[in-house]
Order: sequence, then structure tokens, then C-alpha cells
Amino acid sequence: MDASEASSLKRIERVRNRTLEDPSKVFEKNAWDDVCWDEEQLKNAEVRVLANSAEPLPESESWINNNSAKFLLNADQYWDKFYQKHCDQFFKDRKWLESEFPEVCEADERISALDEGAEPKRLTVFETGCGVGNTVFPLISSTKNAFVYCCDFSPEAIRLLKSRPQYSTERCHAFVGDLTDDDPSHWPLENESVDFIIMLFTLSAIRPEKMPAVIRLLVSFLKPGGYILFRDYGKYDLAQLRFKNTQCAGENLYIRQDGTLAYFFTQEQLRNLFIAEGMVEEQNAVDRRLLVNRKRNILMHRVWIQCKFRKP
Ligand SMILES: C[S@@+](CC[C@H](N)C(=O)[O-])C[C@H]1O[C@@H](n2cnc3c(N)ncnc32)[C@H](O)[C@@H]1O
Repeated sequence: MDASEASSLKRIERVRNRTLEDPSKVFEKNAWDDVCWDEEQLKNAEVRVLANSAEPLPESESWINNNSAKFLLNADQYWDKFYQKHCDQFFKDRKWLESEFPEVCEADERISALDEGAEPKRLTVFETGCGVGNTVFPLISSTKNAFVYCCDFSPEAIRLLKSRPQYSTERCHAFVGDLTDDDPSHWPLENESVDFIIMLFTLSAIRPEKMPAVIRLLVSFLKPGGYILFRDYGKYDLAQLRFKNTQCAGENLYIRQDGTLAYFFTQEQLRNLFIAEGMVEEQNAVDRRLLVNRKRNILMHRVWIQCKFRKP
């Protein structure tokens, strides 16, 4: 086994090994992986979502006449206010990138090994909806050579990201970009130039009717054989159950108190979205995580969906 195989084995061993076998031990850890939901729990979630989406704002009102239109049409302003308020203190660094998406580091290792002494080739990664860099910086430090393009439509997020001491133009290019803008001339990326696109909790912030065009744009940037690595909220996630009925703007679509949007996906929807744009599904998994607040004796059932799609 060479060094690169050994390091990927280590990464895989770290993935999801906290199994809750004895429910009486639930408060012994901060988190449990791949928790099974029983019928009652599923039923309760269904009832809760039926209640909070019983009367979504009608489309004509929510999108055009009513106050909520401003949230849907000016989403960038609400995210900008979010970053003005929270600065870089809200999201945590995505430390699980290496274990959940080992292919990025592995490809970087392969390219770096090939090129010793020669003109260096680089892996090109594009992170979409990068916020203040909680993925970009872990990615830069876990790869030797990868060059990371990253965009967010909040100018404040990009300003904060660029002001962090780790920001280096040798490894990264951060820019303001709206993923719903499908004019290729507005993007600093060439057609078919990117090896990996990373999209974490970003598609859920985009209006559902815009999603197909966003995926189409991203696919156009990918090299044949390139990947979209995706993680986002799944249907019946705790965040969805907590919304009030006044916040529902459509099926599985909600407006948070701060005006930002949150959509909750099913596996099938994601499959259909990406396959319709010519991608091949390599992973589409629900991650049902039980988070435990041991101080306050609270259990939080999170539902995330993780997917990997390849461009043929
Ligand atoms: C929930 S945050 C996730 C941030 C980051 N990906 C992470 O996981 O830490 C969603 C991010 O997507 C960005 N975003 C939402 N819609 C966008 C769009 N149309 N174009 C670019 N960025 C967008 C927001 O500004 C925000 O930074």
C-alpha cells in the first residue's frame, strides 16, 4: 500500500462510525450517524410539515404582490445582511470534507505526484455559494496544489473571505457571482475547465424554478469526467419541522426570519435535477444524523442529502 492509499483508508475509517445500538446510551456522545427513524417519528414529521405548509402563500401573492416577493426576488440582499450581522462567526469550517469527499484530495495527490519536476498541472475546483470560506480554506490546506475558484452573490461574504489571513491568490480566486446568472461571459471560468464543483447548502437557498438553469450552468463549467459534490438539507430535517406556517412559500420551501430561503430536498428530486442536465449519479445518500446537546438534554434529528454526480 502506498502513502496515498494509506491516507485514503484512514479517511474512510473516520467516516460515520458512531452507531447508536443501545438507545439508553444516547447521551453518551455528541452525535450518532445513520440513525433509523421508526414509523412514528416519520409520521410525526409528516404531520408537522403538513401543518406548517397547509396554506403556503399563493404563488401570485408570494412571488409578485405580497411582501414575501421581496425575499424571493432580492435574495442576495438578505444574504448580504446576514453576513454583515454574523461576519465569519456563523458557519463552522467544513472539517468533514476530506472524509466525505476524499476524491478531491486523491485527485490532487495523483496530479501532484505525476508532476514532480515537470511543469506543474493543477486540479481546478469551483465552490459555489462559498460564504466566508469555511470550505475553501480547509480545502486549500488539505490539498497540495489545487486551485480553488469560489463565488458567492453576497459581496460582504466575499469581502470577509478575502480579508482572512489564509486567503492567497496563488491558490484561490474569490469573486461575487450569482448562480442564477447564466450568461457565461459574466463568469471567470472557461467552458469545461473545472475538475470538481462543490456545492454545500447552496442550492437550497435558490428558488426552485431557477434550479435547473443553475445546474446547467455548473455542468457547462465541468470537464468531461468531472464531478459535482453536493450536500444539502433533506425533507423532514429539524430545520423544516421548526418553521411556522406563516413562513412557507411553497412545497418544501420556507423563508427564514432573516429573509433567506430554505428548500428541503428529496433524493428523487435531486436525482431528476442532475440527470436531466446529463449527469451520472454516483452517490445519492440520506445522512440521518442525531445531534445531542448533552448540557440541555436535547436531541436534534438532522437530515442531509449527499450526492456525487459525474459528467460523462
Ligand atoms: C447556507 S449558506 C452555505 C454557505 C457555505 N456553502 C457553507 O456550507 O458553509 C448558502 C450560501 O449560498 C449563497 N447563495 C445563495 N444563493 C446564491 C446565488 N444565487 N448565487 C451565489 N451564491 C448564493 C449565500 O450567500 C450563502 O453564502
